[in-house]
Amino acid sequence: MPDAELLSVARRARERAYAPYSGFRVGAAVRAQSGAVYPGCNIENASYGLTLCAEQVAVAQAISSGERRLTAIAVSAESAHAVWPCGRCRQMLLEFGPDMAVLTEGPGGEPLRQTLTDLLPDAFSAETMR
Ligand code: THU
Repeated sequence: MPDAELLSVARRARERAYAPYSGFRVGAAVRAQSGAVYPGCNIENASYGLTLCAEQVAVAQAISSGERRLTAIAVSAESAHAVWPCGRCRQMLLEFGPDMAVLTEGPGGEPLRQTLTDLLPDAFSAETMR
Protein backbone atom coordinates (compact mmCIF):
# COMPACT_ATOMS: atom_id res chain seq x y z
CA MET A 1 0.00 0.00 0.00
CA PRO A 2 1.47 3.39 -1.00
CA ASP A 3 2.19 6.11 1.57
CA ALA A 4 -0.81 8.27 0.64
CA GLU A 5 -3.17 5.36 1.14
CA LEU A 6 -1.61 4.42 4.48
CA LEU A 7 -2.18 8.01 5.61
CA SER A 8 -5.82 7.82 4.59
CA VAL A 9 -6.25 4.62 6.66
CA ALA A 10 -4.79 6.56 9.62
CA ARG A 11 -7.18 9.45 8.94
CA ARG A 12 -10.17 7.10 8.96
CA ALA A 13 -8.95 5.40 12.16
CA ARG A 14 -8.86 8.85 13.80
CA GLU A 15 -12.67 8.96 13.54
CA ARG A 16 -12.77 6.08 16.03
CA ALA A 17 -10.55 7.83 18.61
CA TYR A 18 -11.80 7.80 22.19
CA ALA A 19 -10.42 11.08 23.49
CA PRO A 20 -13.04 12.74 25.73
CA TYR A 21 -10.42 14.19 28.10
CA SER A 22 -7.87 15.81 25.78
CA GLY A 23 -10.15 16.22 22.79
CA PHE A 24 -7.04 15.41 20.72
CA ARG A 25 -8.03 12.67 18.31
CA VAL A 26 -5.26 10.60 16.74
CA GLY A 27 -5.33 7.83 14.16
CA ALA A 28 -2.50 5.55 13.06
CA ALA A 29 -1.94 2.76 10.56
CA VAL A 30 1.00 0.36 10.42
CA ARG A 31 2.07 -1.56 7.35
CA ALA A 32 3.55 -4.98 8.06
CA GLN A 33 6.06 -6.92 5.97
CA SER A 34 3.21 -9.26 4.91
CA GLY A 35 1.63 -6.22 3.22
CA ALA A 36 -1.29 -6.14 5.65
CA VAL A 37 -2.28 -2.84 7.26
CA TYR A 38 -3.49 -2.41 10.85
CA PRO A 39 -5.24 0.73 12.12
CA GLY A 40 -5.31 2.15 15.64
CA CYS A 41 -6.69 5.18 17.47
CA ASN A 42 -5.94 6.75 20.83
CA ILE A 43 -7.93 5.35 23.75
CA GLU A 44 -8.11 7.56 26.84
CA ASN A 45 -9.23 6.71 30.35
CA ALA A 46 -10.63 8.64 33.33
CA SER A 47 -7.43 7.50 35.02
CA TYR A 48 -5.39 9.59 32.57
CA GLY A 49 -2.15 7.64 32.83
CA LEU A 50 -3.79 4.57 31.31
CA THR A 51 -4.18 6.32 27.96
CA LEU A 52 -3.04 4.40 24.91
CA CYS A 53 -1.58 6.27 21.94
CA ALA A 54 -2.93 5.51 18.47
CA GLU A 55 0.47 4.15 17.40
CA GLN A 56 0.58 1.77 20.36
CA VAL A 57 -2.88 0.41 19.51
CA ALA A 58 -1.95 -0.08 15.84
CA VAL A 59 1.25 -1.96 16.84
CA ALA A 60 -0.73 -4.13 19.27
CA GLN A 61 -3.21 -4.99 16.49
CA ALA A 62 -0.39 -6.00 14.13
CA ILE A 63 1.67 -8.01 16.61
CA SER A 64 -1.35 -9.79 18.08
CA SER A 65 -2.37 -10.72 14.53
CA GLY A 66 0.94 -12.56 14.13
CA GLU A 67 3.09 -9.89 12.45
CA ARG A 68 6.68 -9.45 13.61
CA ARG A 69 8.10 -6.94 11.15
CA LEU A 70 6.64 -3.50 10.46
CA THR A 71 7.75 -1.42 7.48
CA ALA A 72 5.84 1.85 7.89
CA ILE A 73 3.53 3.78 10.19
CA ALA A 74 1.27 6.72 9.34
CA VAL A 75 -0.11 9.13 11.94
CA SER A 76 -2.99 11.56 11.55
CA ALA A 77 -4.16 14.15 14.08
CA GLU A 78 -6.14 17.38 14.06
CA SER A 79 -3.34 19.85 14.56
CA ALA A 80 -1.80 22.93 12.98
CA HIS A 81 1.53 21.12 13.49
CA ALA A 82 2.97 17.89 12.14
CA VAL A 83 2.38 15.19 14.78
CA TRP A 84 5.21 12.65 14.99
CA PRO A 85 5.01 9.66 17.39
CA CYS A 86 5.82 10.45 21.03
CA GLY A 87 9.06 9.17 22.57
CA ARG A 88 7.49 6.09 24.13
CA CYS A 89 5.90 5.08 20.82
CA ARG A 90 9.19 5.58 18.96
CA GLN A 91 10.82 3.07 21.28
CA MET A 92 7.92 0.65 20.88
CA LEU A 93 8.05 0.93 17.08
CA LEU A 94 11.80 0.31 17.02
CA GLU A 95 11.31 -3.18 18.41
CA PHE A 96 9.45 -4.29 15.29
CA GLY A 97 11.02 -2.21 12.51
CA PRO A 98 14.20 -0.21 12.99
CA ASP A 99 14.15 0.72 9.28
CA MET A 100 10.52 1.73 9.19
CA ALA A 101 9.22 4.85 7.47
CA VAL A 102 7.20 7.25 9.60
CA LEU A 103 4.57 9.31 7.80
CA THR A 104 2.50 12.20 9.04
CA GLU A 105 0.67 15.21 7.68
CA GLY A 106 2.05 18.75 7.56
CA PRO A 107 -0.01 21.81 8.54
CA GLY A 108 -1.62 21.90 5.08
CA GLY A 109 -2.32 18.17 5.11
CA GLU A 110 0.70 17.44 2.90
CA PRO A 111 2.44 14.10 3.51
CA LEU A 112 5.73 14.24 5.44
CA ARG A 113 8.14 11.29 5.80
CA GLN A 114 11.11 10.47 8.04
CA THR A 115 12.79 7.24 9.07
CA LEU A 116 12.44 5.94 12.60
CA THR A 117 16.22 6.16 12.97
CA ASP A 118 16.01 9.90 12.26
CA LEU A 119 13.41 10.24 15.01
CA LEU A 120 15.24 8.05 17.54
CA PRO A 121 19.01 8.30 17.06
CA ASP A 122 21.36 6.19 19.24
CA ALA A 123 18.39 4.11 20.35
CA PHE A 124 18.53 1.37 22.94
CA SER A 125 17.61 -1.96 21.36
CA ALA A 126 18.15 -5.71 21.72
CA GLU A 127 21.37 -5.15 19.72
CA THR A 128 22.72 -2.93 22.52
CA MET A 129 22.65 -5.85 24.96
CA ARG A 130 24.88 -8.10 22.82
N1 THU B 1 -1.38 10.79 21.37
C1 THU B 1 -1.30 9.80 20.43
O1 THU B 1 -2.22 8.99 20.27
N2 THU B 1 -0.16 9.72 19.68
C2 THU B 1 0.88 10.61 19.74
O2 THU B 1 1.86 10.46 19.02
C3 THU B 1 0.80 11.74 20.66
C4 THU B 1 -0.31 11.71 21.64
C5 THU B 1 -2.63 10.90 22.15
C6 THU B 1 -2.53 10.50 23.57
C7 THU B 1 -3.65 11.31 24.20
O3 THU B 1 -4.87 10.60 24.06
C8 THU B 1 -3.74 12.56 23.34
O4 THU B 1 -3.04 12.24 22.14
C9 THU B 1 -3.11 13.79 23.97
O5 THU B 1 -1.83 13.53 24.41
